[in-house]
Formats: sequence, C-alpha cells, structure tokens
Amino acid sequence: MDLLIPCAAGVEASVKRQLNSLGYGDCPAINGRISLAGSFFDVARLNVFLRSGERVLIKLGEVPVSTFEELYDAAFSLPWEEFLSAHSLIRMDGKSFQSKLGAVKAAGGVVKKAVVDRLKEKLGVRSLDERGERTVVGVSLFRDRATFTLDTSGEGLHKRGYRTLAYEAPLKETIAAAMIESSIYRAGKPFADLFCGSGTIPVEAALYALNIAPNARRGFDFEKWKCAPNVLPQVRQEAEDVRDRHTKLSLFASDISEEAVSAARYHAKRAGVGEHITFVCADMRKFSSEERFGVLISNPPYGERLKEDDLFALYRDFGRMYRALPDWSCYFLSAYGQAERAFGGRAQKRRKLFNANLACGFYGYLGAKPSVADK
Ligand SMILES: C[S@@+](CC[C@H](N)C(=O)[O-])C[C@H]1O[C@@H](n2cnc3c(N)ncnc32)[C@H](O)[C@@H]1O
Repeated sequence: MDLLIPCAAGVEASVKRQLNSLGYGDCPAINGRISLAGSFFDVARLNVFLRSGERVLIKLGEVPVSTFEELYDAAFSLPWEEFLSAHSLIRMDGKSFQSKLGAVKAAGGVVKKAVVDRLKEKLGVRSLDERGERTVVGVSLFRDRATFTLDTSGEGLHKRGYRTLAYEAPLKETIAAAMIESSIYRAGKPFADLFCGSGTIPVEAALYALNIAPNARRGFDFEKWKCAPNVLPQVRQEAEDVRDRHTKLSLFASDISEEAVSAARYHAKRAGVGEHITFVCADMRKFSSEERFGVLISNPPYGERLKEDDLFALYRDFGRMYRALPDWSCYFLSAYGQAERAFGGRAQKRRKLFNANLACGFYGYLGAKPSVADK
C-alpha cells in the first residue's frame, strides 16, 4: 500500500529522521506529507511509534481533476470495497489548495456519493447502514490533483492519552516531540523546561529518552476494519521490548503557576514517567543549576495575555538567566516577533514551525561543548 504521513509545516525533517530510525529509509516529503510504501503491519508500527506524524493515511489514488464529474469518476474507479464494508460508518475529511474545486464540503459530498455507489455495486447491497466501524475518507485537492485516502489513525496521533487536564495554550504533543528530537537533548544530559504548563515538553522528553513508543496504549480506527489483520499485539510487544527500563532520568520542569505544575505532575504520572521528572512551582528567573552541559527546551508565553512591555521583559530576563549557564543549550518555540531581540541575540538555529496553525519561530542557542577534560 502507499502510505502518507501528514505533519505540521516545519517538522517534516524530524518525521523523516524518525522514519529512518524505524527502518524505513529516506522517505520523500511532498506538500507536508511524507510518503512511503507499507503493509498493515507498518501501519500499526507507524501509528504506535511515530512521535511527530499527525496521522497515518492509506493512499488509494491520485488523479488530476477540474470538475465535479471528473472527481466523481475518479473516486468511483478506486477499490473502496477492499477496505470498507456494507456497515462502515463513512466520515469525510477534505481540503483544497489552489484548485478549481475550492468548495471542500461539496467535493466531500461528491466523493462520498461515489464511494457509496461503488460499494453498493461491488458488495451487491441496496444500501449501507453505516452502523459499523468508523472510516474517514479523505479527499485533498492540491493544484487540481485529487488525492484519495483512508485514515487509519482515527484521533490525531498527538492525542497520546496522557493529557487530560487543560492549562493555558498547551503545545501539541507531536510538536513538542519534534522540538526535542531536533535538539541536542539525549538521555543522560540534564534537561529543564522552565515554562512547563501542562507538562507536554518534559513528558515527551522522557518518552523520547526512554524509547517509549508514544501511542502504544491507545486505539486506532484501523483496528476495527474487517480488512486489517490483527497486527497490533505484535507491535505493542515490540514497543514493550525496546523501551528502556533501566535508565533513571533527572528532568526538571517548573512553571510560575501552581495549577500548571499540578496538571503537569498528573500528566507525567499518567504517561508513566512521573518518577523521572522533578516538578517545581517557580519563576524561571530563579533557575540555576550546578549541573553542566544541560539543555533547556521551553515554550514561553506568546503574549495574548501579556502586555508588550511585560513580554519583552520576560524574554529579556529569560535570556539573562540563560547566559548565567554558559555551557547549557537553550531551545524555545515562540510566536512573539521580538523574541530573539529581547532574549539578547540571534539564535544559531532558527526554523519556522506551526503549532496549531500559528506560525512560530523555533530558536536554538548552543552552549559551550564539553572539552576532553570534561568528558
Ligand atoms: C505557552 S504556556 C506553556 C505550555 C506548555 N508547553 C504546555 O504544553 O502545556 C507558557 C507557560 O509559561 C508560564 N509562565 C509565564 N511566566 C512565567 C515565569 N516568569 N516563570 C515561569 N513560568 C512562567 C505560564 O504559567 C504558562 O504555563
């Protein structure tokens, strides 16, 4: 099967590295989707192990279309009966970019009609009761090419299941994982998130450092499909086998809000990594460390709630605090336009990254490297 992994703009390189380390080689990224070939066993592995992909889609076809008739014919020609049953609950998802067919809802209606007509003909039934397994059919129109997909994941893969309490402006788990993967943080290094909010970054850092598959415990839509073999138990077992049960991490997470810290502590426990993270309620200005060569990874406030002067002062003080740790590295994600200037200097690494459709900068400041004597 052809598989597609959609991901947020700016994290494609991270998803590609994750695929490489899972043994899938160098997969091409086209228009925010990474493509590769695979079986249902790979579908299960990707859903369970990928940290920054948003979903795993099966691509049924890709055809140039410029009218609704062409769209119907293209959808009707695809072998939906190999994946859907007479009971499938068919839900539509769609998007359109620079295409003559810009009305996404209407396009979805046309594709659904084609799918239903094809199923009735091929399965020899008069109607579909839609009382069974959910299957999301996707139609994505990009420059007059329609791509037809089936969503194997169901809920987006950022929904790991551990984050149940809301605290202001939480970061998507998939984005937090990409920030960590793109940084120099690795197990054994000191780590701190001084604006931890609901705890997403330290939890994802612990999952990453201990090689814990982020989605081993949740369910996926494809599990219920009649066409899918029962491959998840084997993949969940692989996840159990590869996780590091021996390393004890010492991650530090703090926030100025007691409510945030208590939510973060709860989420870390739910994710099974509570014992690896020390949570403290504190202003980030108070942070210092005896440890060397650590890594700060944070997502400071962007400013919806703060006045411009307060925001500038917050980033200025963050930079001052960081410069008192000369051999630490610091990475942060922010949509604040003055972030680098206020922090006190240009970042060595800078990337545009989208968190929930908000364009952010991901900035990296690298600390001094350990000398031979330090190693
Ligand atoms: C954008 S949120 C972080 C969201 C977090 N990454 C998550 O996924 O939930 C920013 C956080 O910074 C905290 N904060 C604001 N000013 C702070 C300060 N001076 N010191 C420490 N934390 C602060 C807020 O309480 C808030 O939780």
